[in-house]
Amino acid sequence: MVETGTTSSWWRAQLHLHHHRRWIPTFFTTHKTLLAALWITFFFTVFLWQQRSAASGFLIFRRPFTYRAFPKLRPVAFNLTDFGAVGDGVTVNTVAFERAVMAISKLGKKGGGQLNVPPGYWLTAPFNLTSHMTLFLAEGAEILGINDEKYWTLMPPLPSYGCGREHPGPRYGSLIHGQNLKDVVITGHNGTINGQGQTWWKKYRQKLLNHTRGPLVQIMWSSDILISNITLRDSPFWTLHPFDCKNVTVRNVTILAPVFEAPNTDGIDADSCEDVVIEDCYISVGDDAVAIKSGWDQYGVAYGRPSKNILIRNLVVRSMVSAGVSIGSEMSGGVSNVTVENVYVWSSRRAVRIKTAPGRGGYVRHITYRNLTFENVRVGIVIKTDYNEHPDDGFDPKAFPSLHDINYFSIHGEGVRVPVRIHGSEDIPVRKLTFRDMSVGITYKKKHIFQCAYVEGRVIGTIFPAPCENLDLYDEGGHLIRRSTSQNVSDIDYDF
Ligand SMILES: *[C@@H]1O[C@H](CO)[C@@H](O)[C@H](O)[C@H]1NC(C)=O
Ligand SMILES: *[C@@H]1O[C@H](CO)[C@@H](O)[C@H](O)[C@H]1NC(C)=O
Ligand SMILES: *[C@@H]1O[C@H](CO)[C@@H](O)[C@H](O)[C@H]1NC(C)=O
Ligand SMILES: *[C@@H]1O[C@H](CO)[C@@H](O)[C@H](O)[C@H]1NC(C)=O
Ligand SMILES: *[C@@H]1O[C@H](CO)[C@@H](O)[C@H](O)[C@H]1NC(C)=O
Ligand SMILES: *[C@@H]1O[C@H](CO)[C@@H](O)[C@H](O)[C@H]1NC(C)=O
Ligand SMILES: *[C@@H]1O[C@H](CO)[C@@H](O)[C@H](O)[C@H]1NC(C)=O
Ligand SMILES: *[C@@H]1O[C@H](CO)[C@@H](O)[C@H](O)[C@H]1NC(C)=O
Ligand SMILES: *[C@@H]1O[C@H](CO)[C@@H](O)[C@H](O)[C@H]1NC(C)=O
Ligand SMILES: *[C@@H]1O[C@H](CO)[C@@H](O)[C@H](O)[C@H]1NC(C)=O
Repeated sequence: MVETGTTSSWWRAQLHLHHHRRWIPTFFTTHKTLLAALWITFFFTVFLWQQRSAASGFLIFRRPFTYRAFPKLRPVAFNLTDFGAVGDGVTVNTVAFERAVMAISKLGKKGGGQLNVPPGYWLTAPFNLTSHMTLFLAEGAEILGINDEKYWTLMPPLPSYGCGREHPGPRYGSLIHGQNLKDVVITGHNGTINGQGQTWWKKYRQKLLNHTRGPLVQIMWSSDILISNITLRDSPFWTLHPFDCKNVTVRNVTILAPVFEAPNTDGIDADSCEDVVIEDCYISVGDDAVAIKSGWDQYGVAYGRPSKNILIRNLVVRSMVSAGVSIGSEMSGGVSNVTVENVYVWSSRRAVRIKTAPGRGGYVRHITYRNLTFENVRVGIVIKTDYNEHPDDGFDPKAFPSLHDINYFSIHGEGVRVPVRIHGSEDIPVRKLTFRDMSVGITYKKKHIFQCAYVEGRVIGTIFPAPCENLDLYDEGGHLIRRSTSQNVSDIDYDF
């Protein structure tokens, strides 16, 4: 199918939007009235000129879309506009999305259906996906989440969390949601799903919300999920949240949110999932870029679904508030067999972090980090065992998580303040760590830059900075050079 729309209607929609949203009110409320009047005159002139020139296909501010044909990825494809949708950024298109999904849900036995979203701003309330479905976003297509929370479905808490992450009781569902599905693809020519999170973040800060905010895309109890070639931005809460899913691939996706004041806008939270690949993504958000989780304290222990067999590679990530790649802090169902490789972390507070606390139970084991590059990062490698946030008072304070078999291979970078901070405790010691081939350029020449407490493990070959004395030293050939005499010594200094 070939997209043949002209650019002029598209441009009018744009102007309509801008007109509605900002220009006139903002300028009149400033005291610099003269300047404002000049600006308005200028924009109005350009507006008229643009309207005329749009007809001849000539635009200065926005290049016309060279409409790329929608590839045919399913036997049957629909156009969102076939269901009455209007891409003007104002019309609410929930019913169109629901009708489209309904039509596709009848095609399961015939290989499913594809929903093409053409260029435009497609405002909608939350809607559900169906199995054997491909959602394809054209270049210039943007699905916009409606702000008013009364349109957002309330759902029971996730069973492994027992309550909403921010409030007890029900939580808001996600903008794009799916449960018990199989074979779902969300892809495109880099079209966008935009949660318009700004109002949610503001309400959250002002404590006006009574329920936990909803993610942008959440797929639960599903398998064979592929998210690729799109942009996800400004989620109200976590951006992409596969929950208790199997066989999930996230490839070549851009995830954006402001790096400050966009609370809890994690990029990807793989939660109680197995067989997950996250690759070739660019993620810059207001919380963890990627977090591997598996439930919260007693609820996560009872639910008992680990996250395992996870490959994270070829990412560029940034997190000024939290970390590039995290495991936890909710990990009560266990996390194992995670590989994180070829990851570049820039201008971030922390690069890679494992976080947990007494009460979590569960385990984090068989984790390998390989070929990580840190640039301008405050703390590089972090393990934190006192991340004390609990769903309620019902957690078992003696449920100590076990952390072991964690490898850091080929870790490089520059401009790092504290390259390593491994903060185990008497109750939660960190065991069987291995460091090999590490050289991280530091910001300050100071002592406490490789910090450890209750750590047992080894260093193979020489690394920089020099390791804490808790670790055993081996040469490149694997021969013991010096055994640690003080695994439990603590040299943690949060002031540095
Ligand atoms: C989708 O519908 C719009 C509006 O009717 C039309 O401009 C466009 O050509 C259609 N695209 C496809 C692929 O059918
Ligand atoms: C999506 O499906 C779930 C499970 O059936 C349901 O609870 C929820 O209300 C649906 N959401 C929307 C927006 O229809
Ligand atoms: C990544 O996606 C963009 C569009 O979003 C596309 O142009 C590019 O070819 C994709 N890259 C790969 C390697 O698939
Ligand atoms: C996709 O769009 C995002 C946001 O506009 C942009 O940052 C990114 O570079 C684009 N990706 C590709 C591959 O063009
Ligand atoms: C939260 O609850 C209060 C008290 O019941 C109510 O006045 C307010 O409208 C609610 N806010 C939202 C966003 O639902
Ligand atoms: C995993 O899901 C993809 C679709 O995303 C599918 O092509 C593939 O066959 C699935 N793999 C397995 C082992 O089921
Ligand atoms: C992403 O886009 C590229 C370029 O159009 C295409 O070759 C590739 O198959 C797409 N990848 C996925 C996983 O959809
Ligand atoms: C670990 O996960 C990888 C996928 O990342 C998988 O290929 C491998 O079989 C898993 N190993 C074990 C022991 O399950
Ligand atoms: C290491 O990761 C970087 C990306 O951060 C990549 O460019 C480089 O090719 C990787 N090196 C190896 C040996 O895989
Ligand atoms: C170090 O602490 C662990 C418990 O965290 C304990 O089992 C071990 O005996 C202690 N080792 C020394 C040398 O004190």
